[in-house]
Amino acid sequence: MIVLGIETSCDETGIGILKNEKILSNIVATQEDIHSVYGGVVPELASRAHLARIDNVFKIALERAKIKIDEIDFIGVTNSPGLKGSLLVGVSFACGLAYSLKKPIYKIDHLKAHIAVNFLNQEIEFPALGFVISGGHTSFYYLKNHIDFTLIGKTLDDACGEAFDKVGRMLGLPFPGGPHVEWMAENGDENRIKFPVPLLSNNSLDFSFSGIKTSVMYYIKENGLKNIPDICASFQKAIAETLCIKIERAITRYPVKSLLFGGGVIQNNYLRKKIEERIGKKVKIFFPEKKLCIDNGAMVSILTYFLVKYGVEPSENKIEVLPTK
Ligand code: KG4
Ligand code: ZN
Repeated sequence: MIVLGIETSCDETGIGILKNEKILSNIVATQEDIHSVYGGVVPELASRAHLARIDNVFKIALERAKIKIDEIDFIGVTNSPGLKGSLLVGVSFACGLAYSLKKPIYKIDHLKAHIAVNFLNQEIEFPALGFVISGGHTSFYYLKNHIDFTLIGKTLDDACGEAFDKVGRMLGLPFPGGPHVEWMAENGDENRIKFPVPLLSNNSLDFSFSGIKTSVMYYIKENGLKNIPDICASFQKAIAETLCIKIERAITRYPVKSLLFGGGVIQNNYLRKKIEERIGKKVKIFFPEKKLCIDNGAMVSILTYFLVKYGVEPSENKIEVLPTK
């Protein structure tokens, strides 16, 4: 079974081609160069860049996969959540392709796809918990199997990556701030500043990251930018603590066999290490390869593959987009 996955929900134009569970090609054109000067993603520019690039990304994906266009059996496309204009580019492209090739098309939820990337070429034992920790989302899911996801917790304000990016901006670091905060933190003292660890009520699995971000802002107002590495390390420690406590709560409430992570923030080595140390002995943890943590087409293809395998009917060839931003 050859499956094509198309991802254009934010600022990455991604097309991934699978043969069953194996990646044949996975091409991602990032737009960091376009948006970094503005310190954040500019939706209008993102959709224009998708439109300008998607055709080439598709051609390269076919070439690298060494397949002909008519060998594609199924098409999956992200239709939700994301930037409206960006989603429309991928969905229009996918619907046109499905129509001309007369192949079935599946609409794919971007957040579930971030979790599904862990299904590539590995056996996962269910039930499992899935954690999307990205620039736009912080969402926890309970998974009965590869396709049955229930949302059990989410952020009520800023996403985890958004907090990293906003703190990065306050510190004058380049966009996106996440990786720069991690690099700075390597030379900092994480116990120097006590930032709050917001847990909401005793048993909530929801998140609120805006409080940590605001405390960093007040700290900088009072103390200036003298000790950026310590600020980064202390901030990162507070984020890790919040995530670990919530994950511990989740596994207490939902006993599972596997924990599946996804999203750009989980490229962070410090967070991986803390989660592994605190929780790794209790449940088996899966972190995707770093290049599969960011938005890409293969994560869409693999979820499409399992929808087909479980016998889910394809969508009609008129897919709505459900934007969040
Ligand atoms: O998953 P992603 O590519 O985009 C969304 O779907 O939202 O995630 C991008 C986010 C950005 O906020 C970026 O700062 C963050 O992932 N990120 C990191 C690291 N690398 C990327 N955050 C913390 N530490 C990192 N090493
Ligand atoms: Zn994403």
